[in-house]
Amino acid sequence: MIIAGQLLLPTSGSRAELAAGWLCIAAGRIAELARGACPHAVDLGGDDYFITPGFIDAHVHLPQFDGIGCDGLPLLEWLNTRIYPMERRWEDSSYAASMTQRVLRQFLSHGTTSFCAYSTVHHQATVAAMEVTRQRGLRACIGQTLIDRLSPEYLTRPTQQQLDEVRLLLERFPPLGESSRVEFGVTPRFAASCTPELMQEVARMARSTGAIVQTHLAETTAECEWVESLFDGKLYTDVYHSMGLLGKRTLLGHGIHLRDEERQVIRRTGSIIAHCPNANVFLQSGVMPRWLWREEGLRVSLGSDIGAGFEVAMPRVARAMIDAAKYLRFSMAPSLSGRGQGGGKVRTGGPLTPTLSQ
Ligand code: GUN
Ligand code: ZN
Repeated sequence: MIIAGQLLLPTSGSRAELAAGWLCIAAGRIAELARGACPHAVDLGGDDYFITPGFIDAHVHLPQFDGIGCDGLPLLEWLNTRIYPMERRWEDSSYAASMTQRVLRQFLSHGTTSFCAYSTVHHQATVAAMEVTRQRGLRACIGQTLIDRLSPEYLTRPTQQQLDEVRLLLERFPPLGESSRVEFGVTPRFAASCTPELMQEVARMARSTGAIVQTHLAETTAECEWVESLFDGKLYTDVYHSMGLLGKRTLLGHGIHLRDEERQVIRRTGSIIAHCPNANVFLQSGVMPRWLWREEGLRVSLGSDIGAGFEVAMPRVARAMIDAAKYLRFSMAPSLSGRGQGGGKVRTGGPLTPTLSQ
């Protein structure tokens, strides 16, 4: 197959350029790629086509696609009154399978070919979602969302049951498996909904298998205070660190309200922030100073976080990321007119040095 259009080509580690060109796909791989006019008959494309690698969504909730747009509530209330009842629908694993088909169609129609997702606490539904994704050929990490306390009874499971289910899923969808593009991710929902025993034990399983770990961190100040009160005043990031959950294959959703010492732990362990700019604005959780986190050496990826996020298309999520950086610049940097303003504060626990770079 010959595809022609505007190629997105990397020019250095962080830069790329657009150039007219074409590529040839043979046996499922890019066999040839060239700039300029295509000398062959073109099967797909044209001057106004944009040819890029598939997009990656690093933080998304499969069962929440039906809940996009429940506006006006802060995180914890939104979870309790909108999201948890919606996730209950995945008690029915055939519903989970058909919903996953629908979600995958949406991903592909927006160019997303890889994703890291949460399912629900339901084991059979998670298996169904993973099998559907495997059949469809997308590259994915999917996790059964682990909850063993302080959540509605209908989504809470005994600790031991979840440990057994995690073990089964790690065997069936091994991490870094050669034969499959879908792997299981160890997914404690967040520190408030998991006992220390559950977190410690799944961290051990993740370490021994090399599995990806994904969880939520410091999305709202109310959530930070709740977690700190549950763990004797320990900082939120330190809770995960002490459970053994941080590392190079750990994805931390949001990471907005982080103190200096927390960011140092994240950097030292090589953990990755999944930045979710649409969701952060939608739930009015805060604005993450991405450029500062990057200057400090943190690894940052990008997630739609549907259903708190409302955009499936990753270029639009990236656009929101840029908008967020600009809003922060308005509110934190001295006014360019020289009149000064700089009111907005981010809870970082330390001084922020505004820079005009991203
Ligand atoms: N924190 C714990 N669970 C969730 C969730 O489903 N969505 C978001 N945005 N934050 C969470
Ligand atoms: Zn999330």
